[in-house]
Amino acid sequence: MEETIVMGIESSCDETSVSIVKNGREVLSNVINTQIDIHEKFGGVVPEIASRNHVENISIVMKEALKQANVTLKDIDVIACTYGPGLVGALLVGVSYAKALSYSLNVPLVAVNHIEGHIASNYITHKDLEPPFLCVMMSGGNTQLVYVKDYTDFEVIGKTRDDAVGEAFDKVARVIGLGYPGGPKVDKLAQEGTPNINLPQTYFDDLDFSFSGLKTAVINLHHKDPNINKADLAASFEKTVSEVIINNTKRAVEELKNRNINCNKIVLAGGVSSNTYIRKEFDELSKEKDLQIYYPELKLCTDNAAMIAAAGYYEYLNGSRADMSLNAIPNLKLQ
Ligand code: KG4
Repeated sequence: MEETIVMGIESSCDETSVSIVKNGREVLSNVINTQIDIHEKFGGVVPEIASRNHVENISIVMKEALKQANVTLKDIDVIACTYGPGLVGALLVGVSYAKALSYSLNVPLVAVNHIEGHIASNYITHKDLEPPFLCVMMSGGNTQLVYVKDYTDFEVIGKTRDDAVGEAFDKVARVIGLGYPGGPKVDKLAQEGTPNINLPQTYFDDLDFSFSGLKTAVINLHHKDPNINKADLAASFEKTVSEVIINNTKRAVEELKNRNINCNKIVLAGGVSSNTYIRKEFDELSKEKDLQIYYPELKLCTDNAAMIAAAGYYEYLNGSRADMSLNAIPNLKLQ
């Protein structure tokens, strides 16, 4: 089989990452420079600071990725970069760097949707995973139910109408004093609590999500009673989020069945898919409904360039090519 070495470049938010991946599934290196420490003191990502740090770091991260993979620039067959969705200034650093590399090395450039990258992180963890499947995409900027028909063919069948689920985790964490990034901190604290507080769940006629009512309910409870047991509040919030996501996933499987699509593979993706409680609940669902559940290994759940290289590989095979007019698209959609 012919070998294709893809260099992935990711800079959509606060991680500068470059990865070298062989044939879409074998990670030779995946270097991630996270700016969490820098943004922590502001309680969230400051876009301008993120862009400046990407500029400072990207060459260092790229050289380290080559070194760890034991390859040189001459070995790279394809450059794949995230061009959206994300912070425009942050995205532009990766896009410009990728364009310059592609031009100077005279190798094809492939533009990758960040959400497609999160989905593709599963191809690295599960070497035998192939579409079609239903992806439950849960990250800091997006929450979607995606019917993945093929490697580069997607149908969004449900999406959030307001906050992304990770955003809700982060805002709840900030208000109850856990700091940034909130998801992992809520996850940890919830393990010490009991989910004994009733919180609102929102459903629509279609498969859309809404987490802003739930987020506001948690914030109001904390404001009314600052001495409320935070671990119980975190556990109740997490349980409610999980129930909404699992119920909509079950509805999505039924809806696909009504269209004569028998989808028994459920693939989780995005930062929130590393949540301990949500993973456990999906494992329960797999037993209850005879579904196969896949989730990426923890280090591939949050932003990284290996997932961009994996998605870029399949886009490349599908004939997708970008040119020097490629621009960052902050609100890029999957379809
Ligand atoms: O996928 P990601 O790196 O960002 C986007 O592409 O948007 O996800 C980051 C999000 C943050 O909101 C973070 O709080 C959340 O994922 N997160 C978690 C956990 N780890 C990260 N949320 C809940 N539980 C976790 N263990």
